[in-house]
Amino acid sequence: MRIAWVQLSEVRSYRTLELHPQARLNVLVGPNAQGKTNLLEALGFLVTGRSFRTSRIGEIPRWGVEAASITGELARRASGVESRRSVRRALLRGGDGIWQATGEGAPEWARAIAFGWQDVEIVNGAPGARRGFIDGIAARLYPTHAATLVRYRQVLARRNRILQAHRREPGLDARLEPWSEQLATSGMELIARRRRAVAALQTELARVWSALAAGHSKVEIRYRTALGEAAEPRALLEALARARHHEARLGQTLVGPHRDDLALEIDGADARTFGSRGQQRLVALALRLAEVLPVTEAAGTAPVLLLDDALSELDPRVRELVLRELGAAEQVFLTTPEPLGAAGAAVFDVNGGGIFAA
Ligand SMILES: Nc1ncnc2c1ncn2[C@@H]1O[C@H](COP(=O)(O)OP(=O)(O)OP(=O)(O)O)[C@@H](O)[C@H]1O
Ligand SMILES: [Mg+2]
Repeated sequence: MRIAWVQLSEVRSYRTLELHPQARLNVLVGPNAQGKTNLLEALGFLVTGRSFRTSRIGEIPRWGVEAASITGELARRASGVESRRSVRRALLRGGDGIWQATGEGAPEWARAIAFGWQDVEIVNGAPGARRGFIDGIAARLYPTHAATLVRYRQVLARRNRILQAHRREPGLDARLEPWSEQLATSGMELIARRRRAVAALQTELARVWSALAAGHSKVEIRYRTALGEAAEPRALLEALARARHHEARLGQTLVGPHRDDLALEIDGADARTFGSRGQQRLVALALRLAEVLPVTEAAGTAPVLLLDDALSELDPRVRELVLRELGAAEQVFLTTPEPLGAAGAAVFDVNGGGIFAA
């Protein structure tokens, strides 16, 4: 799919803006703080109805306004025929001061994959960043994943509250039981989808990495859980039973998908500990690009790529290879503080809240 055009009104640093990007590569170039990331965020919001930058939608409207909107047209080609859908997203401030988002016309096939500087945390950050990453992919591949995740978190919170409130009481086991059952069912569902997402990524990751790193090394991703290969809710229930004593002492649930992690290795060495800064950036970018094919297959159309400053910290040769890999994507937006000289790209100068085709 691609964004045929987009119009912003009162979004972040933009009063009004209209952009007609091309298919393939669009480069947004400009000095710091001129609105490049703001524009990427708005493009992502048009496609997905969410910001990749914040979960507080009230940050998105331009300061001081009461309403903001992002409208545009999304196009996709299926069996040689292009179809278009108009999308309108509005942000309105209610009387209570709380911002509400409304969306009209967003097609079910619309997908965007965003990459930003914070993504390096997938590689070098705490396990939560990796869980968030794989849950994001699983949600794009299997739309029910997000709802299961919400349910799992609610059950986990209830179970933890019981552990904290009643841990010294003899009736603890009986109180926990229904919550453990539910935790095991939705927990194993999450783990199964995360494993499938990892398997879908693995093959593409190997291909993308050999294209970006010119084949000198190998990257591997694996799902890590205390449950080994087990796939039945019973395995999680048994693990909870084994941990019960410990759980009662600490007042929290100690096994389940909320404690799992991903292993990321470059030539067999943990990328988090041993990867160079540039390598870590490149692994994070490769993970995002590896997601394109599985998401394309699941959604029936290629996602739009929103890459924020994706080339920084990479050496000139690797940048060249990244740009070559991006040449195959249906539509890409790439921000950069300095001109790139990418052949065939549409270049837009972003400066002081305006955008000018260069
Ligand atoms: N809600 C808002 N209303 C008005 N202005 C905003 C709002 N949110 C952010 N800004 C302004 O947008 C500017 C940042 O824009 P943005 O993050 O897009 O910059 P950038 O071009 O990506 O810069 P860099 O190269 O440093 O990443 C900030 O300086 C801030 O003042
Ligand atoms: Mg930026």
